[in-house]
Amino acid sequence: MPERTPFYGRPGLNTETYDVRAEQDLAAQRLDGDVAFYLEQAGRVGGPVLELGGGTGRVAWRFAEAGFDVVLLDLSPGMLDLAEAKRSSKPADVDQRLQTLRADMRDFQLDRQFAMAIAPFRAFAALPTWQDQHLCLETTREHLRERGLLILHVFDPRLDLCLPELTAPLSPDRGRVRHPVSGNEIRIDVLSRHNDPLAQMLEERWRFTETDSNGRVVRQEEEILRLRWTYRYEMRHLLELAGFEVEAEFSDFRGSPPAYGREQVWLARKA
Ligand SMILES: C[S@@+](CC[C@H](N)C(=O)[O-])C[C@H]1O[C@@H](n2cnc3c(N)ncnc32)[C@H](O)[C@@H]1O
Repeated sequence: MPERTPFYGRPGLNTETYDVRAEQDLAAQRLDGDVAFYLEQAGRVGGPVLELGGGTGRVAWRFAEAGFDVVLLDLSPGMLDLAEAKRSSKPADVDQRLQTLRADMRDFQLDRQFAMAIAPFRAFAALPTWQDQHLCLETTREHLRERGLLILHVFDPRLDLCLPELTAPLSPDRGRVRHPVSGNEIRIDVLSRHNDPLAQMLEERWRFTETDSNGRVVRQEEEILRLRWTYRYEMRHLLELAGFEVEAEFSDFRGSPPAYGREQVWLARKA
């Protein structure tokens, strides 16, 4: 496996089980209410909507179903294929409202502007440096209308999990899910963790093991997750540096005030 393949970067057990695992994250409250929250904000500012790192369309299809035109942008062909695979089950009007696009959120050029841009489920944290994050914010700003709304969701770093001496994951067993097509059991383990506090990067090696009903391992794949953690005030300054005005800052999708070690949900307007 090439070391530098981005997480979700190739089709396989990771991309194929994304939606079922996102359901678990809903249950674990990391994502609780996120889609309803984004839809409510779109009700306030209108469409069209641009989703950065839209993946399998977990969020974007819900926008199309709610009547908004939406562009789902993602770098991963495997994730985009899964978003496209949902098209055949949608009514014609919903189908027409969603466009998928393979592009890098740091560097894209669309000949239209959006009322709202969103980056749900920590997609922005996949950008490895603050310069990449700045580029993404500048490019996104160019694609927003005057006073257009940007919503970013990243995690608020728990400092005990970001220490340089931490070499083993604190929760190596990430549970089991059923493969949505084969019905086989997929076991997910995190084999190692490395933190780089200077670059604010964490790196984890994830292993996905598919076992059939006879207990035989039929597939085993590994991928490296790399995420950059962003401190709350750094995030505010990044937004301001790129020409955004912070409108609100929450620690979940119910509008709770900022809180250490929870989520960062930012609402910012094109200034
Ligand atoms: C955790 S998933 C989130 C998917 C979707 N937003 C959701 O909430 O279900 C992160 C997504 O960001 C995408 N991604 C990572 N880096 C990217 C980049 N530089 N440009 C575009 N997409 C990127 C990945 O391919 C992946 O689909």
